[in-house]
Amino acid sequence: MMGNSKKVFIKTYGCQMNVYDSARMEDVLKPLGYEMTDGPKDANMVILNTCHIREKASEKVYSELGRLKNIKKRRDEENEMIIAVAGCVAQAEGEEISRRAPYVDMVFGPQSYHNLPEMIAKAHRAGNEQGRGVLMTEFPAEDKFDHLPAPTKPEGYSAFLSIQEGCDKFCTYCVVPYTRGAEYSRPAEHVMREARELVAQGAMEITLLGQNVNAYHGDDGRGGEWTLGRLIRELAEIDGLERIRYTTSYPAEVTDDLITAHAEVPQLMPYLHLPIQSGSNRVLAAMNRDHTREQYLETIAKLKAARPDLALSSDFIVGFPGENERDFEDTLDMIRQVKFILAYSFVYSPRPGTPAATMDLQVEAAVANERLQVLQQLLKDVQAEFNNDCVGKEFPILLEREGRREGQLVGRSPYMQPVHVKAPLDLIGKIADLKIIEARQNSLGAELVNVERKHA
Ligand code: 5AD
Ligand code: SF4
Repeated sequence: MMGNSKKVFIKTYGCQMNVYDSARMEDVLKPLGYEMTDGPKDANMVILNTCHIREKASEKVYSELGRLKNIKKRRDEENEMIIAVAGCVAQAEGEEISRRAPYVDMVFGPQSYHNLPEMIAKAHRAGNEQGRGVLMTEFPAEDKFDHLPAPTKPEGYSAFLSIQEGCDKFCTYCVVPYTRGAEYSRPAEHVMREARELVAQGAMEITLLGQNVNAYHGDDGRGGEWTLGRLIRELAEIDGLERIRYTTSYPAEVTDDLITAHAEVPQLMPYLHLPIQSGSNRVLAAMNRDHTREQYLETIAKLKAARPDLALSSDFIVGFPGENERDFEDTLDMIRQVKFILAYSFVYSPRPGTPAATMDLQVEAAVANERLQVLQQLLKDVQAEFNNDCVGKEFPILLEREGRREGQLVGRSPYMQPVHVKAPLDLIGKIADLKIIEARQNSLGAELVNVERKHA
């Protein structure tokens, strides 16, 4: 028996943006009496917040829907289950979802979830045996952020804040401009208000989110605009906000103003996710990226001049149509030069409706997979080298929670590496100076040097 309380299970696929959207869906659903649950079994509503970026990501949704269908079938009227598909697959394939999985009740895109109460009411009114056919995938003229409740308390000390959405870059492989729509920046004052609320609720670190976050140009309410650099400077004035990060950035939009912010704002962490995708100018041009490898290197040289301890992470695509061995060597060379301390790498996946999907010279899967292996091994080596170089250094670490071993706490370094340290429990929620004494592939071990180190 479920009693009166309604339960919702939200399953999130894909990027940080989706993680953020799922949290905001929770904020919308709580006032309607929905409690969160961590599986479909006892859920009255299941929302799959989906990702469309690569074929595998999309296909996962249909296999999950197949499983949910069986659970839904076993439910009686009192104990029914609403199935919703949200996110980028919903946006891109709206009606096709209803065709392939007619038992799905609601389909809505990333710009529509503030309408959840209305959609749920519609679904309840439209009682039928199959799906209830509620579809919302247009890009509404109104700003969903104006209709969302204030965010509830972030978990832990680190919070995400979405400031920008969508993309006008149209890289030839990418679905984002179609699923997330045109670039949009939230007004500066709204962002500032949300940041102050998050800090008041205990956040010490805020990560600003956007598909093209460094293209941010938020209305300042006075006929002007704030750049990302300006926004970061203003955020740094909020008392109690110790760490600022932003992701994901587009290389050709790293402005001098943003670079200066890296020099001037100590709360801005010396770690930047700046996807390059390929090290070959030929491939970059075919991808419609607005930068060459030389321009990329020049940008990071400027960034490092501003902030010498800056490190970079990236995304890579291998096996893009027309990529040959020399192009691939150029990519490996780039990794050796820049020494990316982390990277997400993918085999190119043709996406319906994108220009690259119909390009000549598609690379054979076996070749692309082989290249991915080589690239990932090199990235692993570079990462291990960076982690080893950290040994003996001191870093300010934000201690976030207890570790698995007794007496151990876990925190994050400025470079997002998990750091384990023996330290008293009351240091959780503090920034401490730790000396790194041990490096592993994905984490570091440390000892306590000094407590309550604030930024300079
Ligand atoms: N195939 C493979 N990888 C892709 N990405 C985006 N589109 C594709 C695609 N069609 C990768 C890019 C991007 C990351 C989020 O996903 O590297 O930066
Ligand atoms: Fe996709 Fe390119 Fe836009 Fe990034 S910049 S979201 S890869 S189109």
